[in-house]
Amino acid sequence: MNNVKSFFIFHCCHLLPLGIATGFIVGCSEPLPPIPNTILAPSTSSSALPDTTVQTPPPIAEPKQQSQTMVMRTLDPEKVKSGGIIYHTNCATCHGPNGESTPDWRNQGADNKYPPPPLNGSAHTWHHSSDTLKKIIREGSSSGIGGMPAWDNKLTNQEIDDVTVWITSIWPDEIYNIWYQEIEQKQQMKQHQ
Ligand code: HEC
Repeated sequence: MNNVKSFFIFHCCHLLPLGIATGFIVGCSEPLPPIPNTILAPSTSSSALPDTTVQTPPPIAEPKQQSQTMVMRTLDPEKVKSGGIIYHTNCATCHGPNGESTPDWRNQGADNKYPPPPLNGSAHTWHHSSDTLKKIIREGSSSGIGGMPAWDNKLTNQEIDDVTVWITSIWPDEIYNIWYQEIEQKQQMKQHQ
């Protein structure tokens, strides 16, 4: 049952269009919060209207409210350091030195397989809880669907844990914040119920 769900979560993103233009990601079964506008496009909040219109509250209030709910990243620096070494030794050849992968990652290659997606927060990696990410890294792609190798016989659980922490360490604050509050924390709460 769990395997079926994880399989779907892992591969569903490739089967459905990624409609990020509207500010929402569609296509994954995990509940997805909107990406903040600041990630998708430069802010257009500076209005062209003359200052004579007094109804609109000052736009400064919004970022202030957001920063109050920002999660402090308390990642273990030792794990981040070790995860970075593991990543650059084993993963960077495919996912890029900074997890940026290739701009063409949404399109299948000549072999009908998808290129490695970016892991740097610009794609859908942050839609998965750290448990799901570790499972993906341990088990790799199902044969024929993608080219992600399985790492369970090549890396220890500790190393897989560290590289997962490193991946979350390279996400922008906004992405980390939404991931932590909407995906990771909810997953942890489910486990403790
Ligand atoms: C041979 C190339 C290759 C290597 C090396 C590789 N990957 Fe991947 N990885 C892929 C491909 C291709 C996918 C997409 C898999 C699919 O579509 O089934 C992927 C997917 C992933 C995903 C899921 C991303 C998402 O957004 O759902 C994670 C996480 C990941 N890789 C982490 C790693 C880590 C960590 C390492 C090193 C330990 C690594 N990969 C090494 C090719 C690679």
